[in-house]
Amino acid sequence: MTDRTQVAIIGGGPSGLLLSQILHLEGIDNILVEQRSRDYVLSRVRAGVLEMGLVDMLRRYEAGERMDVEGQVHQGIGMCFDGSQYRIDLAALTGGKTVMVYGQTEITRDLYDARDRMEGRMIHEAAHVALHDLETDTPSVTYEKDGQTHTIACDMVAGCDGFHGVCRTSIPAEKLTAFERVYPFAWLGILSETPNVSPEVTYAWHQRGFALCSMRNPMLTRNYVQCPMSDTIDDWPDDRFWDELKMRLPVDLANTIVTGPSIEKLLAPLRSFVVEPLRHGRLFLAGDAAHIVPPTGAKGLNLAASDIHYLSTALIAHFQQDDEKPLADYSNLALKRIWKAERFSWWMTHLLHIFPDDGPFGVKMQQTELDYLFSSPAAMTSLAENYVGLPY
Ligand code: APR
Ligand code: PHB
Repeated sequence: MTDRTQVAIIGGGPSGLLLSQILHLEGIDNILVEQRSRDYVLSRVRAGVLEMGLVDMLRRYEAGERMDVEGQVHQGIGMCFDGSQYRIDLAALTGGKTVMVYGQTEITRDLYDARDRMEGRMIHEAAHVALHDLETDTPSVTYEKDGQTHTIACDMVAGCDGFHGVCRTSIPAEKLTAFERVYPFAWLGILSETPNVSPEVTYAWHQRGFALCSMRNPMLTRNYVQCPMSDTIDDWPDDRFWDELKMRLPVDLANTIVTGPSIEKLLAPLRSFVVEPLRHGRLFLAGDAAHIVPPTGAKGLNLAASDIHYLSTALIAHFQQDDEKPLADYSNLALKRIWKAERFSWWMTHLLHIFPDDGPFGVKMQQTELDYLFSSPAAMTSLAENYVGLPY
Protein backbone atom coordinates (compact mmCIF):
# COMPACT_ATOMS: atom_id res chain seq x y z
CA MET A 1 0.00 0.00 0.00
CA THR A 2 1.37 3.43 -0.90
CA ASP A 3 0.29 6.69 0.69
CA ARG A 4 1.36 10.13 -0.36
CA THR A 5 1.95 13.20 1.80
CA GLN A 6 4.00 16.39 1.88
CA VAL A 7 5.84 15.72 5.16
CA ALA A 8 6.40 12.29 6.72
CA ILE A 9 7.00 12.79 10.43
CA ILE A 10 8.87 9.98 12.19
CA GLY A 11 8.16 9.81 15.94
CA GLY A 12 5.10 10.66 18.00
CA GLY A 13 6.75 12.31 21.00
CA PRO A 14 6.34 16.04 21.67
CA SER A 15 8.52 17.06 18.68
CA GLY A 16 6.63 15.03 16.10
CA LEU A 17 3.20 15.84 17.49
CA LEU A 18 3.85 19.57 17.70
CA LEU A 19 5.21 19.65 14.15
CA SER A 20 2.25 17.65 12.87
CA GLN A 21 -0.20 20.04 14.54
CA ILE A 22 1.50 23.19 13.24
CA LEU A 23 1.83 21.91 9.67
CA HIS A 24 -1.79 20.78 9.64
CA LEU A 25 -3.03 24.20 10.73
CA GLU A 26 -0.84 25.79 8.07
CA GLY A 27 -2.43 23.61 5.42
CA ILE A 28 0.53 21.28 4.93
CA ASP A 29 -0.38 17.61 4.64
CA ASN A 30 1.54 15.23 6.91
CA ILE A 31 1.52 11.68 8.23
CA LEU A 32 3.05 10.82 11.61
CA VAL A 33 4.61 7.37 12.07
CA GLU A 34 5.29 6.10 15.60
CA GLN A 35 6.74 2.71 16.45
CA ARG A 36 5.04 2.37 19.84
CA SER A 37 1.39 2.35 20.89
CA ARG A 38 -0.25 5.58 21.95
CA ASP A 39 -0.71 4.21 25.48
CA TYR A 40 2.99 3.51 25.71
CA VAL A 41 3.89 7.02 24.57
CA LEU A 42 1.47 8.46 27.12
CA SER A 43 2.86 6.36 29.96
CA ARG A 44 6.31 7.96 29.80
CA VAL A 45 6.83 10.39 32.66
CA ARG A 46 9.16 13.23 31.84
CA ALA A 47 10.08 16.75 32.95
CA GLY A 48 7.61 19.58 33.15
CA VAL A 49 9.03 23.11 33.15
CA LEU A 50 7.96 24.97 30.02
CA GLU A 51 9.49 28.13 28.61
CA MET A 52 7.03 30.71 27.36
CA GLY A 53 8.13 30.06 23.76
CA LEU A 54 6.61 26.57 23.98
CA VAL A 55 3.60 27.83 25.94
CA ASP A 56 2.89 30.39 23.19
CA MET A 57 3.23 27.76 20.46
CA LEU A 58 0.77 25.44 22.20
CA ARG A 59 -1.72 28.29 22.57
CA ARG A 60 -1.29 29.52 19.00
CA TYR A 61 -1.73 26.03 17.58
CA GLU A 62 -4.88 25.17 19.54
CA ALA A 63 -3.37 22.79 22.10
CA GLY A 64 -2.98 25.09 25.11
CA GLU A 65 -6.44 25.17 26.67
CA ARG A 66 -5.95 22.58 29.42
CA MET A 67 -2.43 23.85 30.12
CA ASP A 68 -3.87 27.29 30.81
CA VAL A 69 -6.32 25.81 33.33
CA GLU A 70 -4.12 23.22 35.03
CA GLY A 71 -0.58 24.52 34.55
CA GLN A 72 1.07 26.69 37.19
CA VAL A 73 2.91 29.86 36.25
CA HIS A 74 6.08 30.16 38.35
CA GLN A 75 7.78 33.50 38.88
CA GLY A 76 10.94 32.09 40.40
CA ILE A 77 12.99 29.03 41.35
CA GLY A 78 14.58 28.06 44.64
CA MET A 79 18.23 27.19 45.15
CA CYS A 80 19.76 25.78 48.31
CA PHE A 81 23.31 25.42 49.49
CA ASP A 82 25.25 25.35 52.72
CA GLY A 83 22.09 25.15 54.79
CA SER A 84 20.39 28.23 53.29
CA GLN A 85 17.59 28.73 50.79
CA TYR A 86 17.86 31.37 48.06
CA ARG A 87 15.44 32.44 45.39
CA ILE A 88 16.09 33.40 41.79
CA ASP A 89 13.31 35.85 40.98
CA LEU A 90 12.93 34.97 37.32
CA ALA A 91 10.26 37.58 36.64
CA ALA A 92 12.07 40.47 38.33
CA LEU A 93 15.39 39.60 36.68
CA THR A 94 14.03 39.14 33.15
CA GLY A 95 11.51 41.94 32.80
CA GLY A 96 8.48 39.80 33.69
CA LYS A 97 9.29 36.45 32.10
CA THR A 98 8.09 33.30 33.86
CA VAL A 99 7.93 29.53 33.32
CA MET A 100 4.92 27.20 33.27
CA VAL A 101 4.95 23.99 35.31
CA TYR A 102 2.93 21.43 33.32
CA GLY A 103 3.98 17.82 32.70
CA GLN A 104 5.33 16.71 29.36
CA THR A 105 2.93 13.74 29.50
CA GLU A 106 0.03 16.21 29.66
CA ILE A 107 1.34 18.15 26.66
CA THR A 108 1.65 14.91 24.72
CA ARG A 109 -1.94 14.02 25.64
CA ASP A 110 -3.20 17.50 24.64
CA LEU A 111 -1.40 17.29 21.31
CA TYR A 112 -2.85 13.83 20.63
CA ASP A 113 -6.32 15.18 21.44
CA ALA A 114 -5.77 18.15 19.11
CA ARG A 115 -4.56 15.86 16.31
CA ASP A 116 -7.62 13.62 16.82
CA ARG A 117 -10.01 16.61 16.67
CA MET A 118 -8.49 17.58 13.35
CA GLU A 119 -8.42 14.01 12.10
CA GLY A 120 -4.65 14.06 11.80
CA ARG A 121 -3.17 10.98 10.17
CA MET A 122 -1.11 9.05 12.73
CA ILE A 123 0.15 5.50 12.47
CA HIS A 124 1.07 3.75 15.70
CA GLU A 125 2.87 0.44 16.23
CA ALA A 126 4.72 0.84 12.95
CA ALA A 127 7.56 -1.70 12.87
CA HIS A 128 10.81 -1.60 10.89
CA VAL A 129 10.47 2.04 9.90
CA ALA A 130 13.02 2.80 7.16
CA LEU A 131 13.85 5.93 5.16
CA HIS A 132 14.72 5.82 1.45
CA ASP A 133 16.12 8.09 -1.27
CA LEU A 134 16.72 10.99 1.09
CA GLU A 135 19.14 12.61 -1.33
CA THR A 136 16.59 12.66 -4.16
CA ASP A 137 13.45 14.75 -4.77
CA THR A 138 11.30 11.69 -4.10
CA PRO A 139 12.12 10.34 -0.64
CA SER A 140 9.91 7.72 0.98
CA VAL A 141 9.31 5.94 4.25
CA THR A 142 8.40 2.28 4.66
CA TYR A 143 7.09 0.45 7.70
CA GLU A 144 5.37 -2.78 8.59
CA LYS A 145 2.03 -3.04 10.28
CA ASP A 146 -0.44 -5.91 10.58
CA GLY A 147 1.83 -8.12 8.52
CA GLN A 148 1.93 -5.72 5.57
CA THR A 149 4.61 -3.40 4.23
CA HIS A 150 3.42 0.17 3.72
CA THR A 151 5.10 2.98 1.81
CA ILE A 152 4.69 6.71 2.28
CA ALA A 153 5.90 8.79 -0.67
CA CYS A 154 6.67 12.32 0.51
CA ASP A 155 8.49 15.58 -0.22
CA MET A 156 10.25 15.91 3.15
CA VAL A 157 10.99 13.71 6.16
CA ALA A 158 11.05 15.13 9.70
CA GLY A 159 13.23 13.03 12.01
CA CYS A 160 11.50 13.42 15.39
CA ASP A 161 12.13 9.89 16.65
CA GLY A 162 14.22 10.59 19.73
CA PHE A 163 17.72 9.56 20.73
CA HIS A 164 17.27 5.86 19.86
CA GLY A 165 15.40 6.44 16.61
CA VAL A 166 16.17 5.39 13.07
CA CYS A 167 16.46 8.84 11.43
CA ARG A 168 19.86 9.93 12.72
CA THR A 169 21.32 6.52 11.96
CA SER A 170 19.93 6.71 8.39
CA ILE A 171 22.47 9.45 7.69
CA PRO A 172 25.84 8.10 6.53
CA ALA A 173 28.19 8.26 9.53
CA GLU A 174 30.83 10.22 7.59
CA LYS A 175 28.34 13.06 7.02
CA LEU A 176 27.69 13.63 10.74
CA THR A 177 29.77 14.89 13.60
CA ALA A 178 28.66 13.92 17.09
CA PHE A 179 29.68 15.71 20.29
CA GLU A 180 29.08 13.92 23.55
CA ARG A 181 29.68 14.03 27.28
CA VAL A 182 28.44 11.39 29.70
CA TYR A 183 28.39 12.52 33.33
CA PRO A 184 29.75 10.24 36.07
CA PHE A 185 26.48 9.96 38.04
CA ALA A 186 22.73 9.48 37.58
CA TRP A 187 19.45 10.87 38.92
CA LEU A 188 17.08 8.79 40.98
CA GLY A 189 13.62 10.31 40.72
CA ILE A 190 10.32 9.53 42.40
CA LEU A 191 6.78 10.70 41.83
CA SER A 192 4.57 10.72 44.95
CA GLU A 193 1.08 11.87 45.87
CA THR A 194 2.39 14.14 48.61
CA PRO A 195 2.42 17.94 49.01
CA ASN A 196 5.17 19.73 47.07
CA VAL A 197 8.35 20.20 49.09
CA SER A 198 8.50 23.84 48.06
CA PRO A 199 6.06 26.04 46.13
CA GLU A 200 8.70 26.60 43.43
CA VAL A 201 11.05 24.18 41.62
CA THR A 202 14.02 24.01 43.99
CA TYR A 203 17.57 22.88 43.18
CA ALA A 204 20.04 21.99 45.95
CA TRP A 205 23.81 21.65 46.12
CA HIS A 206 25.09 19.46 48.96
CA GLN A 207 28.33 17.62 49.80
CA ARG A 208 26.32 14.37 49.61
CA GLY A 209 25.16 15.27 46.11
CA PHE A 210 22.58 17.24 44.14
CA ALA A 211 18.85 17.21 44.94
CA LEU A 212 15.83 18.64 43.13
CA CYS A 213 12.29 19.21 44.37
CA SER A 214 9.74 19.66 41.62
CA MET A 215 6.04 19.08 41.09
CA ARG A 216 3.31 18.26 38.61
CA ASN A 217 0.42 19.73 40.61
CA PRO A 218 0.02 20.65 44.29
CA MET A 219 -0.49 17.04 45.38
CA LEU A 220 1.75 15.35 42.82
CA THR A 221 5.39 15.82 43.66
CA ARG A 222 8.51 14.98 41.70
CA ASN A 223 11.81 14.81 43.58
CA TYR A 224 15.28 13.68 42.55
CA VAL A 225 18.65 12.92 44.14
CA GLN A 226 22.03 12.45 42.48
CA CYS A 227 23.27 8.87 42.86
CA PRO A 228 26.15 6.74 41.55
CA MET A 229 25.74 5.49 37.99
CA SER A 230 26.16 1.92 39.21
CA ASP A 231 23.07 2.09 41.50
CA THR A 232 19.86 0.30 40.60
CA ILE A 233 16.27 1.15 41.52
CA ASP A 234 16.36 -1.67 44.07
CA ASP A 235 19.09 0.20 45.95
CA TRP A 236 16.56 2.97 46.60
CA PRO A 237 13.56 1.90 48.69
CA ASP A 238 11.28 4.89 49.37
CA ASP A 239 12.51 5.40 52.95
CA ARG A 240 16.10 5.67 51.83
CA PHE A 241 15.12 8.17 49.15
CA TRP A 242 13.27 10.46 51.56
CA ASP A 243 16.04 10.26 54.17
CA GLU A 244 18.65 11.16 51.59
CA LEU A 245 16.58 14.01 50.18
CA LYS A 246 16.10 15.49 53.66
CA MET A 247 19.83 15.31 54.37
CA ARG A 248 20.58 17.33 51.23
CA LEU A 249 18.14 20.16 51.97
CA PRO A 250 18.37 22.94 54.57
CA VAL A 251 16.97 21.73 57.91
CA ASP A 252 14.04 24.21 57.89
CA LEU A 253 12.86 22.90 54.55
CA ALA A 254 13.59 19.24 55.31
CA ASN A 255 11.50 19.46 58.49
CA THR A 256 8.40 20.45 56.50
CA ILE A 257 8.54 17.45 54.13
CA VAL A 258 5.56 15.13 54.10
CA THR A 259 6.71 11.75 52.80
CA GLY A 260 4.65 9.04 51.11
CA PRO A 261 4.99 6.01 48.86
CA SER A 262 6.40 6.49 45.38
CA ILE A 263 4.00 5.87 42.51
CA GLU A 264 6.81 5.93 39.98
CA LYS A 265 10.56 5.62 40.30
CA LEU A 266 13.23 6.07 37.66
CA LEU A 267 16.96 6.09 37.30
CA ALA A 268 18.24 8.43 34.59
CA PRO A 269 21.79 8.78 33.27
CA LEU A 270 22.95 12.30 32.42
CA ARG A 271 24.30 13.03 28.97
CA SER A 272 25.09 15.96 26.71
CA PHE A 273 24.92 15.12 23.00
CA VAL A 274 24.68 17.09 19.77
CA VAL A 275 24.92 15.94 16.19
CA GLU A 276 25.77 18.28 13.30
CA PRO A 277 24.36 19.05 10.77
CA LEU A 278 20.62 18.56 11.28
CA ARG A 279 19.91 18.04 7.58
CA HIS A 280 20.70 15.27 5.13
CA GLY A 281 19.06 15.81 1.75
CA ARG A 282 15.33 15.85 2.47
CA LEU A 283 15.64 14.62 6.07
CA PHE A 284 15.58 17.17 8.92
CA LEU A 285 16.38 16.12 12.49
CA ALA A 286 14.66 17.77 15.47
CA GLY A 287 14.40 17.21 19.23
CA ASP A 288 16.05 14.29 21.00
CA ALA A 289 16.95 12.72 17.62
CA ALA A 290 19.51 15.52 17.27
CA HIS A 291 20.52 16.39 20.82
CA ILE A 292 20.31 15.45 24.48
CA VAL A 293 20.85 17.71 27.47
CA PRO A 294 21.25 16.67 31.09
CA PRO A 295 17.95 17.50 32.84
CA THR A 296 19.45 20.03 35.26
CA GLY A 297 18.23 23.12 33.39
CA ALA A 298 14.90 21.56 32.27
CA LYS A 299 15.80 22.27 28.66
CA GLY A 300 15.12 18.97 26.82
CA LEU A 301 11.50 19.57 25.90
CA ASN A 302 11.98 23.30 25.39
CA LEU A 303 14.81 22.72 22.97
CA ALA A 304 12.65 20.28 21.02
CA ALA A 305 10.07 23.08 20.80
CA SER A 306 12.51 25.66 19.44
CA ASP A 307 13.72 23.16 16.81
CA ILE A 308 10.11 22.65 15.76
CA HIS A 309 9.61 26.40 15.58
CA TYR A 310 12.54 26.77 13.16
CA LEU A 311 11.67 23.64 11.18
CA SER A 312 7.97 24.42 10.82
CA THR A 313 8.76 28.00 9.76
CA ALA A 314 11.15 26.66 7.11
CA LEU A 315 8.71 24.02 5.85
CA ILE A 316 5.94 26.62 5.63
CA ALA A 317 8.24 28.89 3.58
CA HIS A 318 9.05 25.95 1.30
CA PHE A 319 5.47 24.79 0.73
CA GLN A 320 3.67 28.14 0.81
CA GLN A 321 6.17 30.54 -0.78
CA ASP A 322 8.53 28.27 -2.66
CA ASP A 323 11.28 29.85 -0.55
CA GLU A 324 14.14 27.38 0.03
CA LYS A 325 16.37 29.63 2.12
CA PRO A 326 14.86 28.91 5.57
CA LEU A 327 15.24 25.16 4.96
CA ALA A 328 18.85 25.72 3.89
CA ASP A 329 19.40 27.76 7.08
CA TYR A 330 17.51 25.42 9.44
CA SER A 331 20.48 23.45 10.69
CA ASN A 332 22.68 26.47 11.45
CA LEU A 333 19.90 28.48 13.03
CA ALA A 334 18.63 25.68 15.25
CA LEU A 335 22.15 24.64 16.26
CA LYS A 336 22.99 28.13 17.51
CA ARG A 337 20.23 27.91 20.09
CA ILE A 338 20.85 24.21 20.77
CA TRP A 339 24.48 24.93 21.72
CA LYS A 340 23.41 27.75 24.03
CA ALA A 341 21.00 25.43 25.84
CA GLU A 342 23.70 22.74 25.91
CA ARG A 343 26.06 25.24 27.53
CA PHE A 344 23.51 26.27 30.14
CA SER A 345 22.56 22.66 31.01
CA TRP A 346 26.23 21.68 31.24
CA TRP A 347 26.94 24.69 33.44
CA MET A 348 23.99 24.03 35.82
CA THR A 349 25.06 20.37 36.00
CA HIS A 350 28.63 21.34 36.89
CA LEU A 351 27.51 23.93 39.40
CA LEU A 352 25.19 21.67 41.37
CA HIS A 353 26.48 18.07 41.29
CA ILE A 354 29.31 16.44 43.18
CA PHE A 355 31.83 15.20 40.61
CA PRO A 356 33.58 12.22 42.25
CA ASP A 357 36.94 12.98 40.60
CA ASP A 358 37.00 16.74 41.24
CA GLY A 359 37.95 16.49 44.91
CA PRO A 360 38.04 19.31 47.48
CA PHE A 361 39.21 21.93 44.94
CA GLY A 362 36.14 21.25 42.80
CA VAL A 363 33.90 21.63 45.86
CA LYS A 364 35.53 24.97 46.78
CA MET A 365 34.98 26.25 43.24
CA GLN A 366 31.30 25.29 43.36
CA GLN A 367 30.77 26.87 46.77
CA THR A 368 32.50 30.05 45.61
CA GLU A 369 30.48 30.18 42.41
CA LEU A 370 27.22 29.72 44.35
CA ASP A 371 28.27 32.38 46.85
CA TYR A 372 29.08 34.73 43.96
CA LEU A 373 25.83 33.88 42.19
CA PHE A 374 23.61 34.92 45.09
CA SER A 375 25.61 38.10 45.74
CA SER A 376 25.59 39.28 42.13
CA PRO A 377 22.46 40.51 40.34
CA ALA A 378 24.43 40.19 37.07
CA ALA A 379 25.13 36.49 37.70
CA MET A 380 21.55 35.82 38.78
CA THR A 381 20.26 37.61 35.69
CA SER A 382 22.39 35.40 33.49
CA LEU A 383 20.96 32.28 35.13
CA ALA A 384 17.41 33.66 34.98
CA GLU A 385 17.51 34.66 31.30
CA ASN A 386 18.73 31.19 30.36
CA TYR A 387 16.24 29.44 32.64
CA VAL A 388 13.21 31.24 31.20
CA GLY A 389 14.60 30.50 27.73
CA LEU A 390 16.64 32.44 25.22
CA PRO A 391 14.61 34.03 22.43
CA TYR A 392 13.87 32.30 19.13
N1 APR B 1 10.13 4.74 14.16
C1 APR B 1 9.10 5.49 14.61
N2 APR B 1 9.08 6.08 15.81
C2 APR B 1 10.15 5.91 16.59
C3 APR B 1 11.28 5.17 16.18
C4 APR B 1 11.23 4.57 14.91
N3 APR B 1 12.25 3.83 14.46
N4 APR B 1 12.20 5.19 17.16
C5 APR B 1 11.67 5.92 18.16
N5 APR B 1 10.44 6.37 17.82
C6 APR B 1 9.51 7.17 18.62
C7 APR B 1 9.58 6.87 20.11
O1 APR B 1 8.79 5.74 20.46
C8 APR B 1 9.06 8.16 20.70
O2 APR B 1 7.67 8.13 20.91
O3 APR B 1 9.87 8.53 18.52
C9 APR B 1 9.38 9.23 19.67
C10 APR B 1 10.44 10.22 20.13
O4 APR B 1 9.93 10.93 21.23
P1 APR B 1 10.86 11.54 22.39
O5 APR B 1 11.90 10.57 22.76
O6 APR B 1 9.95 12.06 23.43
O7 APR B 1 11.63 12.75 21.64
P2 APR B 1 11.08 14.19 21.20
O8 APR B 1 9.71 14.11 20.65
O9 APR B 1 12.17 14.81 20.41
O10 APR B 1 10.89 14.98 22.56
C11 APR B 1 11.94 15.61 23.23
O11 APR B 1 11.15 14.50 25.15
O12 APR B 1 12.60 12.79 25.65
C12 APR B 1 12.14 14.01 26.06
O13 APR B 1 13.88 15.01 27.24
C13 APR B 1 13.25 14.94 26.03
O14 APR B 1 11.88 16.51 26.83
C14 APR B 1 12.53 16.12 25.65
C15 APR B 1 11.53 15.75 24.66
C1 PHB C 1 10.80 17.82 36.72
O1 PHB C 1 9.81 18.40 37.17
O2 PHB C 1 10.75 16.60 36.47
C2 PHB C 1 12.03 18.58 36.50
C3 PHB C 1 12.07 19.93 36.83
C4 PHB C 1 13.23 20.65 36.62
C5 PHB C 1 14.34 20.03 36.08
C6 PHB C 1 14.29 18.69 35.74
C7 PHB C 1 13.14 17.96 35.95
O3 PHB C 1 15.46 20.75 35.88
